[in-house]
Amino acid sequence: MSRQDSIGVSEAEIAVHWQEEKLYYPSTSFIAQANMTDATLFDRFSLDNFPECFKEYADLLTWDKYWHTTLDTSDAPCFKWFVGGRLNASYNCVDRHLAENRNKAAFIWVSEQENEPDVVLTYQELYVRVNEFAALLQDYCGLKAGDRVTIHMPMVPELPITMLACARLGVIHSVVFGGFSGRACGERISDSGSSVLVTMDAYYRNGQLLNHKEKADEAVHIAASEDQIVKHVLVWQRYPGKYSASTPMVEERDVFVNDLVKKYRGQRVEPVSMPAEAPLFLMYTSGTTGRPKGCQHGTGGYLSYVAGTTKYVQDIHPNDVYWCMADIGWITGHSYIVYGPLSLGATSVLFEGVPTYPDAGRPWRIAERLNVNIFHTAPTTIRMLRKAGPDEPNKYNFNFKHMTTVGEPIEPAVWKWYHEVIGKGKAAIVDTWWQTETGGFLCSTMPALHPMKPGSAGPAMPGIHPLILDEDGNPIPAGAGKAGNIVIQNPWPGQFQTIWGDRDRFVRTYFGKYNKNAHSTDWRDWPYFPGDASMQAEDGYFRILGRVDDVINVAGHRLGTKELESACLLVPEVAEAAVVPVADEVKGKMPEIYISLKPGFTASKEIEQKVIQAIDTSIGKIARPKHVWIVPDMPKTRSGKIMRRVLAAVSNGMDVGDVTTLANPEVVASVKKMVQGEGGEADFYG
Ligand code: WTA
Repeated sequence: MSRQDSIGVSEAEIAVHWQEEKLYYPSTSFIAQANMTDATLFDRFSLDNFPECFKEYADLLTWDKYWHTTLDTSDAPCFKWFVGGRLNASYNCVDRHLAENRNKAAFIWVSEQENEPDVVLTYQELYVRVNEFAALLQDYCGLKAGDRVTIHMPMVPELPITMLACARLGVIHSVVFGGFSGRACGERISDSGSSVLVTMDAYYRNGQLLNHKEKADEAVHIAASEDQIVKHVLVWQRYPGKYSASTPMVEERDVFVNDLVKKYRGQRVEPVSMPAEAPLFLMYTSGTTGRPKGCQHGTGGYLSYVAGTTKYVQDIHPNDVYWCMADIGWITGHSYIVYGPLSLGATSVLFEGVPTYPDAGRPWRIAERLNVNIFHTAPTTIRMLRKAGPDEPNKYNFNFKHMTTVGEPIEPAVWKWYHEVIGKGKAAIVDTWWQTETGGFLCSTMPALHPMKPGSAGPAMPGIHPLILDEDGNPIPAGAGKAGNIVIQNPWPGQFQTIWGDRDRFVRTYFGKYNKNAHSTDWRDWPYFPGDASMQAEDGYFRILGRVDDVINVAGHRLGTKELESACLLVPEVAEAAVVPVADEVKGKMPEIYISLKPGFTASKEIEQKVIQAIDTSIGKIARPKHVWIVPDMPKTRSGKIMRRVLAAVSNGMDVGDVTTLANPEVVASVKKMVQGEGGEADFYG
């Protein structure tokens, strides 16, 4: 990608400089109980033993029929795993645990309202509810294997129930993060071709009972404008028997699940035995251009990979209480709240709300009360909790033996606070680097085998073989002190199968840069390029620096700059928009927006507000910019391209470099004065 058609100053370039940190060792008590203490694991998963090594993960599952081909590369780079095998994901996550663990808690759900009782869902209860809802989906909606269903729900037990009911029928679910707008949901309904939307009337956020149902109406409307008709909107009720939203139900189309499901009481649905390579779900994520892409994950490969990594990296044991404080609407929740932990028969905590409501002690009260001993969250949350209540963890009696950080680079200082204050100096920490596309972890320390290094994800997972390449594809050796693009040399079972309905985009985006033979069916010709920059230290540990493409990782959520720019252009006064990443103390990175106005308009607070509103309705509040700058003109090349690199440098207080070749170099000085000059903080909307 050339500098001019990308952001220029990417996240990776904004990243802090490399500084080696000292190592922290896991405690002997942690090692004594760990699931994986055998260092020969990495020999078993060497490239020489590829791909057969992954049988070890697949054997953690129950197969209806064993596979005959571990890896089929005939349609490279759309790789097929465990071909010939058949299984059902819902059976693996629910039914097979009944014999021994019927009465064990699968989920303990915690309301944001601190005075509301927890809901404990045993494996038996989960089984009953998944079956009843599957019967409803089959009978009332007429769904069958291969159909798609969009799910737009908050963090409630009904969300995994809905996912598992789909999986039971071989129906492909597409969960859209609850905080996304109705429009964003509608676009995903349309892209996936869903005729059923499952939603909920309301949920709590920051103490407010939000009307969520209204987003469903907007979503159905947007989908219809793109010729995708939603026949059924299934509405769960936050308080069964009571409607908590003010938006009217639409006759024929909308139905309350809580009422309808009574008709299916006690019904059982045979889990449909699916081919290993049948899609299990779609998860949309932002890309460099155009609309979000539906990452398609398969059944056998994905489930094997998340079961293996959950067991060895999350190190969950039968009596552990595991709490992953992510949202199921993101890949972390899919892999490490739902499919990974349930495939192992674990007990997980589900939390409805925000970690700082009503105060920054809330997570620690939950941990203390439920005796949580494995904790999983993102650097943004850690930074937020550190800022809002640095001493709060000390006030509660909880003990984590293991903690995860995921989703964005973690600053060493934040890592140390996590270790010292939340982990009480004892917990083993895993910094897991991966993506929506990769299904599960790519790099992390193995908690009982490797020492931890603050700010470094660590070495690669077993069977994952990364390399750092320069722009021309030459490897940059470990310890060279130079950053480059990290690639994975080999396929792995958790890797997504394709972009839903757009194989060309899949091949171009992830393999185009380093593939030299587009017709090759040898996996060695298809290194996977995730879009991140990285540096590898001499000891083999990878430090991830951030995105090198036009994607901004805001508080661990991926946003495409093009999506944001398109939203800005919906405001009638806006002529041009450019979005750049800017470093932020809490959220890691945030988008900053530059706009220029059409002739005849002058800058005003109203226009800024309209831009923010446009982002809220097109994408959701998570995409809110740190600033909106209305500039007299954009710095441009002579061919008329907006120089985002210059804007990003200005926003981040970096050197703008040589601007003399621009068509309008004088603009840079005035933009700089506006942004860096007097009282630049006045327009904070975070
Ligand atoms: C970034 C989230 C540094 C990275 C699981 C990646 C990380 C993007 C880490 C994927 C980490 C994720 N350290 N950066 N431990 N984990 N990232 O798809 O830039 O929401 O490409 O998946 O987040 O974000 P996604």
